[in-house]
Amino acid sequence: MDFKLSKTHLLQQELFRRFAAAEIAPLAEEMDETEVYNLDLLKKLHKYGMMGIPYSKEYGGAGADYLTYVLCMEELSAADASTGITISVHTSLACSCIDGFGTPAQKEKWLRPLVSGLKTGCFGLTEPNAGSDAAGQQTKALLDGDAYVINGAKIFTTNAGFADTFVMFAMTDKSLGTKGISAFVIDRNTPGLTVGKNIHRMGIRAASNCEVAYDNVRVPVENRLGKEGEGFKIAMKALDAGRIGIAGQAVGIAQGALNEAIKYIKERKQFNKRISSFQNTQFRVADMQTLIDAARLLAYRAAVTKDNGENYGPQAAMAKLYASRIANDVTRDAVQLMGGYGYSREYPVERMMRDAKITEIYEGTSEVMKMVISGSMKIS
Ligand code: CAA
Repeated sequence: MDFKLSKTHLLQQELFRRFAAAEIAPLAEEMDETEVYNLDLLKKLHKYGMMGIPYSKEYGGAGADYLTYVLCMEELSAADASTGITISVHTSLACSCIDGFGTPAQKEKWLRPLVSGLKTGCFGLTEPNAGSDAAGQQTKALLDGDAYVINGAKIFTTNAGFADTFVMFAMTDKSLGTKGISAFVIDRNTPGLTVGKNIHRMGIRAASNCEVAYDNVRVPVENRLGKEGEGFKIAMKALDAGRIGIAGQAVGIAQGALNEAIKYIKERKQFNKRISSFQNTQFRVADMQTLIDAARLLAYRAAVTKDNGENYGPQAAMAKLYASRIANDVTRDAVQLMGGYGYSREYPVERMMRDAKITEIYEGTSEVMKMVISGSMKIS
């Protein structure tokens, strides 16, 4: 058992940290205020290989392991959680469905431009009436000759505002339940596919998160990923992997907030002493760092388990459950340590506290994480 990152991982971590400081942090406040993701930054994420980290070089990816991807999520989210979710949905949800279930021809056509070009992906699973109950899909895909005709609506589709490639799920046979869901990959410009309004949110306000309507969208059979009826499994597998990235994102948000609070308490004086010299403050900081480190270890364990080709679903769920919980605790404490300034928009910790909340909700709520973990324990 070795708890140290390798030299390569440390080098990558440093590169991600520098990129975040130079390119992301200066934009984070403005993107949050305007609720618009900076598309020049998106281009840079593509250009510097951050949109294809765990994918094979054969298709233009970086060929790195999943732990490297988690390090990226952590470092970039410490500067801006909206960047974290933009990368997560593209990489671990959209690309992973194509990588895991696409044919070589589908990978060539769809994966290559996502991991080595400038194309961005999104993932349409959630519907107005199918959130945690992902099997309750209403969107239908009915076979008509050599194409499926898709009708329905998705909601909260992250990246939809600017995505080029839509991985989405629809019922091909409602009578079969979870075995009647299929996965499709669709070009944004397909007639009948309409991206609706960006949904205003409490946090990760710079991310794009939209309704998507499918109105008689004709999709060739060759755009189906995997076999007919395999869609639920494809979505679940993508989400298992995605949840490790969200754990990394939550760790990053928490560490980012603690770093900001530490900078502040070293400067701020009250009662003629720096706040950092009060033992009450020191103990609070010690608790915060301990929570972060525990969550980080869970996230790294899940990533390494995945890299080793072992069953990682329950570990991913534990990492997300715990990291998202402590991200909320730590960001709230960071605001408290900084008092009125922490609550003000002059400092980034109030944004980080707002951003942390969603990590307990998306890519599976904390309650769903507990279903996955307890399910794996076979106690009932
Ligand atoms: N991997 C592979 N197969 C899986 C699986 C997994 N992780 N989980 C379940 N399955 C299979 C089961 O083995 C089962 O197959 P069999 O019938 O052959 O045994 C089948 O799928 C059905 O499984 P369940 O009976 O457990 O399914 P369920 O309907 O009870 O749902 C659930 C289980 C865990 C609650 C699941 O619905 C779930 O994860 N819900 C949350 C959905 C979610 O995370 N949504 C997030 C939306 S995307 C998002 O947030 C992205 C964004 O834009 C930010």
